Amino acid sequence: LSSRNSSSSENNFRSESFSEERDLESIPETGCLSIIVLGASGDLAKKKTFPALFNLFRQGFLQSNEVHIFGYARTKMSDDALRDRIREYLTPNKGTSSEQAEALSKFLQLIKYVSGSYDSEEGFRLLDKEISEHEFAKNSQPGTSRRLFYLALPPSVYPSVCKMIRSYCMNQSHLSGWTRIVVEKPFGKDLSSAEELSSQLGELFDEEQLYRIDHYLGKELVQNLLVLRFANRFFLPLWNRDNIDNIQIVFREDFGTEGRGGYFDEYGIIRDIIQNHLMQVLCLVAMEKPVSLKPEHIRDEKVKVLQSVLPIGQEEVVLGQYDGYKDDPTVPDGSNTPTFATVILRIHNERWEGVPFILKAGKALNSRKAEIRVQFKDVPGDIYKCKKQGRNEFVIRLQPLEAMYMKLTVKKPGLEMSTIQSELDLSYRQRYQGVTIPEAYERLILDTIRGDQQHFVRRDELKAAWEIFTPLLHKIDDGELKPIPYKPGSRGPAEADELLAKAGYVQT
Ligand code: NDP
Ligand code: BG6
Repeated sequence: LSSRNSSSSENNFRSESFSEERDLESIPETGCLSIIVLGASGDLAKKKTFPALFNLFRQGFLQSNEVHIFGYARTKMSDDALRDRIREYLTPNKGTSSEQAEALSKFLQLIKYVSGSYDSEEGFRLLDKEISEHEFAKNSQPGTSRRLFYLALPPSVYPSVCKMIRSYCMNQSHLSGWTRIVVEKPFGKDLSSAEELSSQLGELFDEEQLYRIDHYLGKELVQNLLVLRFANRFFLPLWNRDNIDNIQIVFREDFGTEGRGGYFDEYGIIRDIIQNHLMQVLCLVAMEKPVSLKPEHIRDEKVKVLQSVLPIGQEEVVLGQYDGYKDDPTVPDGSNTPTFATVILRIHNERWEGVPFILKAGKALNSRKAEIRVQFKDVPGDIYKCKKQGRNEFVIRLQPLEAMYMKLTVKKPGLEMSTIQSELDLSYRQRYQGVTIPEAYERLILDTIRGDQQHFVRRDELKAAWEIFTPLLHKIDDGELKPIPYKPGSRGPAEADELLAKAGYVQT
């Protein structure tokens, strides 16, 4: 107890770790809360972070009497200039209701802007002063203030920003207060750079204070995966190598890199989408039942899946680059960066041995869609030979228009005895009319405030995911593997469909 009351920053730090050990349900949802968006002048802050905060405010999750929001960046601007920027983005058309406009005005009043650099103490001391003033003004219960730092910044500045926060901006409470840091991907470019970043941040903050966002974990149907798998008797006996032929996890976008060419060219589609978003989905599809729903139990199971993935075979990879990608002035002429990839992963365990997990992601394709396709094996001893029998397939469409449907073979209605494929369809828009599905960022920020790390990437998960992809990425970086050109608006290189067929996928 004495160390919890000590005023040294080291002991404050430890007392926070201690407070993180409390049972989630006992964490009070009240007390002074400061949300600090670093990189407030940027694209992510404008398009995702502030809108998510506004939606939380509108729904009553952030209360005016306890919350204050701070924007921080180098750009010089007034509080009002930041507020105008946010207002402009949130009211794109004139159809905004007066109720929403009023809520927005109230929300904007909670926002203050502080300008400063990312590596000098001056700006962070000023930021701390502003936060402390707010805490002093609003903190009716001393020792309960909460500080949430959201790093909407390029990862190159994470280490210096974290050092500054650690040195000058930590919550000074000794009771139930906390300091938490939300970081955005990319977390490194390969295994060694990711590990270096992890250890830099790990020296400053406990794992319990670090929230690595993968926004796919905040999507409604991704959050539904464990419920589907473990709360339905239906799936329990079928979800394995005896019944499933192959599983596809697919991400498609029908637009190119659009102004983000510079960033994208350094990373490519595997680092941008597959190593993180699709791998997180794969973990939830393939993991064993966790001991409980406690975040650590779930993340323990995810790590086991990642550690069971076999090295990727070069013959099980198809890379593509869309024609016109290099016309972007920020992309070098000789770029070898893939904008499309199909990669087959093999999980070496009792449940999945022999089942290909086909991960496919691409920019500038023919549609925008993210889905999981679980394709079952053919029925043995088929007696309905009159027409080709389709395979059972269970499809979970993450976006757009969330849905899940099962493809079944049924008798074609009518006098003849013939079969057709039909669907048991659960389309969210029809089934849950009037329910608004929250944005991923809304949920994840709320989880951060509540101290629930279930939908965030743990350090060992990150490491295991990089271990899988680093050898392949280095081959691409060294030019040993080359992307195949494809037409924008197409399905990607034809070779990818050939690989799919070779892996056993049958178009139904
Ligand atoms: P921006 O390029 O818009 O950068 C955010 C802010 O950081 C800028 O306004 C700028 O503020 C500051 N900044 C930019 N470049 C540098 C630099 N080289 N050194 C120091 N400061 C810099 O990035 P985004 O907002 O697009 O993204 C932020 C983070 O979120 C990144 O890690 C990105 O990968 C991730 N992300 C972004 C998504 C998006 O849709 N934009 C989606 C998913 C993740 P100032 O100059 O005022 O200090
Ligand atoms: C981001 C990628 O993480 O996810 C972008 O950096 C991509 O390239 C985006 O466009 C897709 O997110 P969503 O939620 O629209 O599928």
